[in-house]
Amino acid sequence: MNKEKKYLIQTWGCQMNEHDSEKIEGILNSLEYIEASNKEEADLIIYNTCLVRENAELKVYGNLGELKRLKRENPNLIIAVCGCMMQKEEVRDVIKKKYSHVDIIFGTHNIHKLPQLILDHDQKTNMLIDVWEDSKEIIEDLPTKRKYDFKAFINIMYGCNNFCTYCIVPYTRGREKSREAKDILEEAIKLSKEGYKEITLLGQNVNSYGKNLEDKTTFPELLYMLNDVEGLERIRFMTSHPKDLSNELISAMKDCDKVCNHLHLPFQSGSNRILKKMNRKYNKEQYLNLVEKVRTEIPDIALTTDIIVGFPGETEADFQETIDVVKKSKFDSAFTFLYSIREGTPAAKDEEQVPDDVKHKRFDKLLDTLKPISLERNTSLIGKKVKVLVEDISKNDSSKLSGRTDTSKLIHFKGDGSLIGKIVDVCVIDAKTWTLEGELVE
Ligand code: 5AD
Ligand code: SF4
Repeated sequence: MNKEKKYLIQTWGCQMNEHDSEKIEGILNSLEYIEASNKEEADLIIYNTCLVRENAELKVYGNLGELKRLKRENPNLIIAVCGCMMQKEEVRDVIKKKYSHVDIIFGTHNIHKLPQLILDHDQKTNMLIDVWEDSKEIIEDLPTKRKYDFKAFINIMYGCNNFCTYCIVPYTRGREKSREAKDILEEAIKLSKEGYKEITLLGQNVNSYGKNLEDKTTFPELLYMLNDVEGLERIRFMTSHPKDLSNELISAMKDCDKVCNHLHLPFQSGSNRILKKMNRKYNKEQYLNLVEKVRTEIPDIALTTDIIVGFPGETEADFQETIDVVKKSKFDSAFTFLYSIREGTPAAKDEEQVPDDVKHKRFDKLLDTLKPISLERNTSLIGKKVKVLVEDISKNDSSKLSGRTDTSKLIHFKGDGSLIGKIVDVCVIDAKTWTLEGELVE
């Protein structure tokens, strides 16, 4: 009998990529590959890559370099690289030249071709490259090996049409296309029947969901439909673009009891001049009004955001506008990024690049502004009872569990591993900048 083949997959980047990796694993399982516990015992290693910032890219090259030795020791090892980096010709050229031990390159649009690629590769000695520029078709029903059995990602749309001038995503994920609402609903119903409690709807810009569909189902309409799925308890979504956030969405969030009280609303910069250069299509005042409207309509909502510092041409005065938005919006937390030049995007060609030391100084100041606000938001929860979906044993203390509140905050509390996957009541007893401490309410 043949020895079972083993795979190892490593993923960089966003939830979209994580979910793609779950599909790749599903495909490999259907080919009777099982997961390897380390690189040494793997017959197939797949790197699913990200291109959003230079850091992500450099990590992949570093890791690929390390595989050279393994390939030398085990010439039968198949090394495949996929994901956003592979959509760029320049990256593929670097891999061809410097990482010739790679066997297969595929992209973000043809994950479903993997079985064929593995087969074809076996017959060839050259690097097999199959990357599609874009794809109009949405492939339904790919097998998926989900990381958890109580929370799941669901793609609702692919690609992006926004072309923010700093961002590489429109070039790696193609044009916006939405899945049919009935397919999304079917997936949600299936998941709930399998016992899943929480779904996260994924799209680069969920607020423009449905625009390319014949029936023009809108994102709020989709939320109402999903809210009726029996057995599901929580619905999350990622990411909202402020320019498309409608009153209907705010109403849907209020009306739908399963839609979590959390909105991730990236603002990127507080300066109108920079927002214009970024092609974000809203200004500071509109963003702040939106925040106020959301907070008035849904008072206990948690707001999170993405911020870039050091976009080309950003002056100290522009940066102060960003600080002002942070102070006024009182975010529960924020992802902060140093602007990273992405070749092929309009901002990369800008001659007014901000020096690294200035970027770092602003970055530190930004964190110094964000931290006390997050702590204050978290501290206000002390003494309150919150519903928590228990996700894991705590990483730092095995007597504790970790889970997420409805508002997506990480909370730790003493409890038994049998609670993993359940929604429990927890009383908040302490607050830190990024996490909460709690006590199980029996
Ligand atoms: N440099 C820095 N941050 C970036 N992001 C996207 N592109 C870049 C870039 N070139 C950030 C944005 C986005 C998040 C996913 O990544 O804040 O919302
Ligand atoms: Fe996700 Fe963007 Fe990175 Fe692609 S480039 S993995 S879409 S964050």
